[in-house]
Amino acid sequence: MQLLDGKKVSDDIKNEIAAEVAQMKARGEKVPHLAAVIVGNDGASLTYVGSKVKACEKVGFESTLVKMPSTTSEVELLKKIKQLNEDDNIDGFIVQLPLPPQIDTQKVIMAIDPTKDVDGFHPENFGKMALDMSTFIPATPFGILELLERYGVETQGKHTVVIGRSHIVGRPMSILMGRKGFPGNSTVTLTHSYTKNIAQITTQADIVISALGVPNYLKAEMVKDDAVIVDVGITRVNDETTEKGYRIRGDVDFENVSKKASFITPVPGGVGPMTIAMLLKNTLLARERRRD
Ligand code: GUN
Repeated sequence: MQLLDGKKVSDDIKNEIAAEVAQMKARGEKVPHLAAVIVGNDGASLTYVGSKVKACEKVGFESTLVKMPSTTSEVELLKKIKQLNEDDNIDGFIVQLPLPPQIDTQKVIMAIDPTKDVDGFHPENFGKMALDMSTFIPATPFGILELLERYGVETQGKHTVVIGRSHIVGRPMSILMGRKGFPGNSTVTLTHSYTKNIAQITTQADIVISALGVPNYLKAEMVKDDAVIVDVGITRVNDETTEKGYRIRGDVDFENVSKKASFITPVPGGVGPMTIAMLLKNTLLARERRRD
């Protein structure tokens, strides 16, 4: 079994990006500037956004954190997005999801200028992704592709089973794994809450990508020998023995599944850090596109 070490690979990518930023600076060019909008006080979301901003500083980007109260109206958020769209100093921005219930998420995503949509969530970018056109690929699926590529995991002709059809991970992942090229050329099954006999499907998978958010969901008897396991789950479970009072758990019963797997991502230290690295990569791309 080999660990797909997202921490190490994301550090490599961040170093590559930092080197490019240093060159930009040396040429007297503007460095990439990412803005992140967060609405409300959800602890996990605040942590993720904080990590994104911190990563910007680490590679030499400029960053702006826009914090808005949980009572923010849709009109107020749309006004902020318009400002960010029009701000020439901002190369790309994200609106952290989920949003409070009074705000229509789709309306918000549609309001983002596609050229600044470094999450790749706007329908224009999502459509381009599905059509193999150059675009921003959503950071978590992009990170998984990069991890598979850097470890030389074969995907061509393999059966990939994706668990969960969220717009952020499962749905784009299912499209990307089936695209022409590498990593891709895979035969994809997208499973979800209405899927029957899921274990019968996962046991046929060469590659399982679980983005469900249910801790310890994927058990050893649900996977075949030598399967490649990618765990996207990052659920907080209470644990009073830790300093923070919680522990991060993936979807996969790592202890037992890792004994059967050929490759497996740990949680934490697998997909999570890759998401942040690829968001930086998309922001660098956004800057380069605006410059050219
Ligand atoms: N919430 C969970 N993952 C993501 C992400 O990749 N981007 C945004 N904007 N919100 C998220």
